[in-house]
Amino acid sequence: MVKVLVAGFKGRMGNTTVQMVLEHEDFELVGVFDPCAKEKNLNENAEYKDTDVPVYVSREEIKTDAEVWIDFTAPSAVFENAKFALENHISPVIGTTGMSDDQVAELQALAKKEHVGGLIAPNFGISAVLLMQFAKKAAEYLPDVEIIEMHHDNKLDAPSGTAINTAKMIAEVRKAHKQGNPDEKETLAGARGADYEGMRIHAVRLPGYVAHEQVLFGGKGEALTIRQDSFDRISFMSGVAVATEKIRNYDELMIGLENLL
Ligand SMILES: NC(=O)c1ccc[n+]([C@@H]2O[C@H](COP(=O)([O-])OP(=O)(O)OC[C@H]3O[C@@H](n4cnc5c(N)ncnc54)[C@H](O)[C@@H]3O)[C@@H](O)[C@H]2O)c1
Repeated sequence: MVKVLVAGFKGRMGNTTVQMVLEHEDFELVGVFDPCAKEKNLNENAEYKDTDVPVYVSREEIKTDAEVWIDFTAPSAVFENAKFALENHISPVIGTTGMSDDQVAELQALAKKEHVGGLIAPNFGISAVLLMQFAKKAAEYLPDVEIIEMHHDNKLDAPSGTAINTAKMIAEVRKAHKQGNPDEKETLAGARGADYEGMRIHAVRLPGYVAHEQVLFGGKGEALTIRQDSFDRISFMSGVAVATEKIRNYDELMIGLENLL
């Protein structure tokens, strides 16, 4: 049994993760953490009345034998959470997006020093992992690219971690260059989207959406569009489960679920 702690359990992804961990026959939920929790035990919630899982509302009070720390919290919290997990030799499985490159590098160095395995996955959905791989392949032949990501309107960070990761993977096979007319002018600021090495990234935020991404490639007289849709948060759970099962076999902090598949 893998002993698991879920951080951000009161949130949308955290709650879906709690259900997955409780239902998984190889996982044991040994703690849940969220500063906005009011209860002392998970069983105070009617839907979890048959469980016995301590609730933590601050990192300082966490005393646990958890082996894996699953994190779906907030951009402002995830770095300190991941640091805490690594320092306590708990393998972090991080779904929270919005960390800077410097923060990720610092965590990778810490994981190496502590010999603890971990994963940061901007997207645990298999359709998004495949989209990124297909997009990287397509960019070898069609280097002019724009990315449109679409999410629910409660999302805090923009562009999405998946969009940034898609751009980074494409940048490995494509030379940075300015796209569009060299003399183009925005008559409304932001009209051309964010710029990543010349690729334009557009972030849509609308109620009703969950997580969706399109990568558009344009060539002479042709175009290619690759699209993925995550309609339900349950779609991320098979990826989270794979990471939770496998992560203790590693001793470095990896980026991207594809490293474990
Ligand atoms: N990697 C993926 O596949 C994937 C998929 C969906 C969402 N996400 C990301 O997951 C994160 C959470 O998304 P959500 O929709 O569940 O958000 P949410 O706002 O519904 O939930 C976040 C929860 O984290 C809690 N929280 C805040 N600070 C905390 C801390 N220090 N420690 C523990 N908990 C803390 C909040 O109280 C809240 O309950 C976001 O960054 C989102 O982009 C990732």
